[in-house]
Amino acid sequence: MKRIMNNRHFRSLIDINSKEFLDIIDKSIEFKNLDAKNEIPNIFSKKILVMIFKKNSTRTRVSFETAMSKLGGHAIFLSDDSCQLNRGEDISDTAKVLSGMADLIMMRTNSHEEIKELAKSSSVPIINGLCNLFHPCQLLADMQTIAEIKGKDLSKLTIAWVGDGNNMCNSYINASKLLNFKLKISTPHGYEPDEYTLDKFGKNVEMCELPGSAVDDADVVTTDVWTSMGDEHENEERKKIFKGYQVNMNLMSKAKNDSIFLHCLPAHRGEEIDHDILDSSHSVVWKQAHNRLYSSMALINFLLTCE
Ligand code: CP
Ligand code: NVA
Repeated sequence: MKRIMNNRHFRSLIDINSKEFLDIIDKSIEFKNLDAKNEIPNIFSKKILVMIFKKNSTRTRVSFETAMSKLGGHAIFLSDDSCQLNRGEDISDTAKVLSGMADLIMMRTNSHEEIKELAKSSSVPIINGLCNLFHPCQLLADMQTIAEIKGKDLSKLTIAWVGDGNNMCNSYINASKLLNFKLKISTPHGYEPDEYTLDKFGKNVEMCELPGSAVDDADVVTTDVWTSMGDEHENEERKKIFKGYQVNMNLMSKAKNDSIFLHCLPAHRGEEIDHDILDSSHSVVWKQAHNRLYSSMALINFLLTCE
């Protein structure tokens, strides 16, 4: 084993504290400025990140792979159908083997339990690259984007979440506690966020019956797909249930004039967002997506250097 078993992991946002979250945002901005000057330092030469993807990805895979390369290291991509997990090898056995070879392990999977199991048996830090309950990596980029535009004191802000109470929504709840912003959530009945997360971390959350009440006077409006990966069989039913939860210009007009719109992407135009939202003056989604690269760098830096 290369490391003693006292690693920091990134299973969800609650693995970091408020100061560490703010430090990661600062570091992301620092990496972004350095990249603009082509001056990213080679600080992680010979470091290896193994990424196991049991679900599709564009941004998460490319941002972490690019981040490792730019920092001087290397990333190895494993799809579940190309590795032995798909043939019944235990997560814990996989963790023991991979952590003997790699310095970081990321996993995107349907089960948060698998992320926890991986972490339990790994001697190197684990990164949750998205699971059924959380998408903490995305929140690092979202909070960086909001901080860049609205300033670093997020506690002055009201953020509105409209749509499914899914993995992104749960991560927003965690972020609202850590960074102390007000989070107004509107979901259809039966699609509320995770109950435990809401109970334990929802002190700044207000649940709103109607999307209009959530968005009212908000600084930031955000949403996500109505059907997450793995729930495709519910797609048609969800389209009917979520119909009134589309973010469109009419809904955006209830938010502050200078409100910004975020979406983790991929988006489905005509479903959770109207066709014109992504390219409207409110939208910061391309900046948000590009920031995935810098927040991935900052997270790698945090996990490889923290005590
Ligand atoms: N937002 C996000 O995680 O995108 P990918 O699914 O493309 O990685
Ligand atoms: N909630 C979405 C996020 C995709 C990045 C999903 O889990 O599919």
